[in-house]
Amino acid sequence: MSRTPVCRVALVTGANGAIGQAIAAGIVRTPGFEVVLVCRNEAKGTKALETIRHATGQDNIRLEMADLSRKASVQALAERWQGPLHVLVNNAAQCPRRRVETPEGIEVQWATNVLGYAWMVEVFTPVLESSAPARIVNVASYWAGGLDLGDPEFKRRPYDNDSAYRQSKQADRMLSSAYAKRLKRTGITVNACHPGDVNSKLSNDLGFGGHELPEQGAATPVWLATDSACDGVTGGYFEHRREAPCPFSADHDAVEALYELCREY
Ligand SMILES: NC(=O)c1ccc[n+]([C@@H]2O[C@H](COP(=O)([O-])OP(=O)(O)OC[C@H]3O[C@@H](n4cnc5c(N)ncnc54)[C@H](OP(=O)(O)O)[C@@H]3O)[C@@H](O)[C@H]2O)c1
Repeated sequence: MSRTPVCRVALVTGANGAIGQAIAAGIVRTPGFEVVLVCRNEAKGTKALETIRHATGQDNIRLEMADLSRKASVQALAERWQGPLHVLVNNAAQCPRRRVETPEGIEVQWATNVLGYAWMVEVFTPVLESSAPARIVNVASYWAGGLDLGDPEFKRRPYDNDSAYRQSKQADRMLSSAYAKRLKRTGITVNACHPGDVNSKLSNDLGFGGHELPEQGAATPVWLATDSACDGVTGGYFEHRREAPCPFSADHDAVEALYELCREY
C-alpha cells in the first residue's frame, strides 16, 4: 500500500455506488490526490474503501458518512470537515419506484438528486474558495427533461420514477450553470456531465441495464475533476470528455428560478 504525498483533496458522494466507486478510484490513482468517500451506509462505505484500496494500492482514502437528502446531515459533514478541499464531485442519486419522502417531508429524488447537490455546493463553498483553484463536478445525465418548477416534488402530478429522475438531472445541469456564474470570481469552477450507461441499482430502478463499465462511466467525471485540460473551464456540460450544448442551461430565467427555488429549502 503506498501513500503518495497529497496536495489535493477530493470528495466524492455516493462513493459506494457503481459510478461513484469508479470515480473515487480514478481520482485516487491520479498522483497527488487524497479522496474522501461520502456514503450514507457505513458497511457499504467501508467495503468500498477496502475495495478501492485493494484495487489501486493507494492508502490516500478515507470515509465520511452523510445522508445527502437531509440538509442537517450535509451541514454536519461540512462542520466537521478539517483541512482543504479542492474537488467536490456530486454523484449520489436515487430513483425509487414509489414516491417516498424524507423525514423532513421532501420527495426523496428532489431532496437527494437536486437539493443534495445544491446544499453540498453551498456548505463547501467557503473551504473550496480558501483552497482554490478548486472544482465542482456535478454528475448529471443526458437523460434529462420535464422539470416542473411549479410541482418539483410531484405533489400534483402523478409520480413515476423516470419522470422524477429526468427532471432531477435537468435540474443538476441547470444548477451547475447557476453556480458557475455565481462562483466565477472565487477560483471555483463548476461543470456538469453525463457519466455513461452503467449497470447499477439506479439504472435497474429506471428499467435499463447499462452497457458500459463503471470505469467508462467514471472517465468524464474523473477527467473534469483532475485533468489540467479542464483548468479554468466552467459552466459547461460534458459527454465523453467533450462539451455538449445544454438547452436547459441556456434558459437563463428558468436557471435563476430553479436556483431561487432550491434556496427556499
Ligand atoms: N448508471 C447509469 O447508467 C447513469 C447514467 C447517467 C447518469 N448517472 C448518474 O450517475 C450517478 C451515479 O449513479 P450510479 O448508476 O452509480 O448509481 P448507484 O450505483 O445506484 O449509486 C448511487 C449512490 O448514491 C448513494 N445515495 C443515494 N441516496 C443517497 C443519500 N440520500 N445520501 C447519500 N448517498 C446516497 C447510494 O448509496 P446507497 O448504496 O446507500 O443507496 C450509492 O452510493 C447518479 O448521479 C446518476 O444520476 C448514471
